[in-house]
Amino acid sequence: MNIRFEPLSKERLSEALALIEVTFPEYLQHITEVYKVSLENDKTSKYWNSRRILEYWMAIDSSSNKVVALTGFYQLTEHLINEIWLGWYCVDPSARSKGIGRQTLQWTVDQARKKRYEFFRLWTTTDPAEAIAQKLYDSVGLDVYKKKFNEKSGDMILYRELKL
Ligand SMILES: CC(C)(COP(=O)(O)OP(=O)(O)OC[C@H]1O[C@@H](n2cnc3c(N)ncnc32)[C@H](O)[C@@H]1OP(=O)(O)O)[C@@H](O)C(=O)NCCC(=O)NCCS
Repeated sequence: MNIRFEPLSKERLSEALALIEVTFPEYLQHITEVYKVSLENDKTSKYWNSRRILEYWMAIDSSSNKVVALTGFYQLTEHLINEIWLGWYCVDPSARSKGIGRQTLQWTVDQARKKRYEFFRLWTTTDPAEAIAQKLYDSVGLDVYKKKFNEKSGDMILYRELKL
């Protein structure tokens, strides 16, 4: 499958959110808000009190023109300015295990490198729904540098990083 990357747009927001709904259903409301804020130029929203960067991208299948994966960057004000975080990364369930996840992650890391960040970071969990992601992260050298128990879900939150 040939894919191209496009910034998240108002025109394709509902398509992107349909993929979020099947992948991260418990975060749908939060992500809807974050996506919308990222598309607005208005920096007065409360979101910008704790965030510096919100930038989301879609991977689009060139032949069907469908959104097959999502990725993105964010940086909170509590983060260092030389670190960038991976945001809401996923592949459409019907397009998984065909290399799109690896390609999308590699593209995101490459973009971060081009932007001259020094650390690429993310948080993930030991939730079995995210188990395949752990194998992928390990294989690209995104190592766990911190673990935290999540009392709400009973899972561990894993913080991973790659030195760029
Ligand atoms: C994690 C995810 C993005 C991987 O996407 P994908 O397109 O299936 O990934 P790829 O086909 O590029 O495979 C990447 C690696 O994942 C593993 N993998 C993929 N499919 C697998 C399967 N069915 N069983 C076991 N491992 C598998 C392999 O290690 C594979 O490496 P390989 O290139 O050596 O084969 C996708 O499963 C997903 O969206 N999961 C739910 C959301 C999620 O967990 N996001 C991350 C949250 S932090």
